[in-house]
Amino acid sequence: MKKLLLHLDTDPVASAFDQAVAYDAGVDNVLSYGSITRDNVTPHVHGMIFTRGGKNLKNSAIFIGGSNVPASELVGRAVKKAFFGPVRVSVMLDPNGSNTTAASIARKVLTGYDITGKNVVILGAGPVGQRTAMYLLQEGAAQVTITSRSIERAKVITAQLKEAYGIEVIPGETRSDEAVNQLLKDAHVAIATGPAGVCVLPKSALDKSETLEVVADVNAVPPLGVEGIEVMDNNTEKNGIRFYGAIAIGNFKMKVHHGCVSSLYESNDQFLDETTIYDIACKIDTK
Ligand SMILES: NC(=O)c1ccc[n+]([C@@H]2O[C@H](COP(=O)([O-])OP(=O)(O)OC[C@H]3O[C@@H](n4cnc5c(N)ncnc54)[C@H](OP(=O)(O)O)[C@@H]3O)[C@@H](O)[C@H]2O)c1
Repeated sequence: MKKLLLHLDTDPVASAFDQAVAYDAGVDNVLSYGSITRDNVTPHVHGMIFTRGGKNLKNSAIFIGGSNVPASELVGRAVKKAFFGPVRVSVMLDPNGSNTTAASIARKVLTGYDITGKNVVILGAGPVGQRTAMYLLQEGAAQVTITSRSIERAKVITAQLKEAYGIEVIPGETRSDEAVNQLLKDAHVAIATGPAGVCVLPKSALDKSETLEVVADVNAVPPLGVEGIEVMDNNTEKNGIRFYGAIAIGNFKMKVHHGCVSSLYESNDQFLDETTIYDIACKIDTK
């Protein structure tokens, strides 16, 4: 029986990236729809759960994506509500690649590195930075700061993280290079999760910090997120600091994304979210 993936995207046009990855992960046919909301999703879900029955249901699955993370999470809740009893299919929630990317950053940083008691600064408070903060705190970091160019925005985001996940993340401000230097002065780990094509970590901050041990970046578009990093850096040591570039992290992210999509077809009752996607990433070799 063919493996079908219902691809629901909250953006007007469903992501080509998520479709391509699904095929590479072994899906036979991807049915993609854009402009999905919690109010229009139910008929799509019924289309999947009423066409195949019993043990054949595990050959159908749902992927929820989109650049608006809260909207995708609402769609995820509505999808769950449309199921009843055993009449359900497995679901993966990865809006904007945030869960798979953040899980990959965390696993790379933790490769051969004990983060217990360390001070982490995450430059960029979008979905990828927020999830990365959560994972590294769970893994034992003593403190994690997440930054915005506006301290007010950073405070709003850290308050949301406390409410949603019960975690204490410190808000930071990065309006100037001097502010970044100050934040990194006694940091052990720095992670650039700013937008594509923006350098958020200048070389002066790397030069001035005497404590940095690991630096990672997920921006693959020049100028890169960290001045002096290379996209292929993969546990590459320079001046006593280990670097992970965007392609090294991106390659591992592809493995995690493939692994998650493949696992959807093992049973019809999984819901892969930020927690379960991280669990899957932990089982994949980071090298
Ligand atoms: N390698 C991979 O596999 C992969 C996969 C997915 C995503 N990514 C990358 O991961 C990164 C983070 O993704 P995301 O979705 O979390 O990011 P995002 O929401 O687009 O941006 C992150 C933060 O950057 C800040 N920002 C925006 N414009 C800026 C500017 N001109 N200068 C400095 N800061 C600016 C914003 O905060 P403030 O406006 O509050 O300052 C925003 O919260 C992106 O570079 C994306 O391309 C990589």
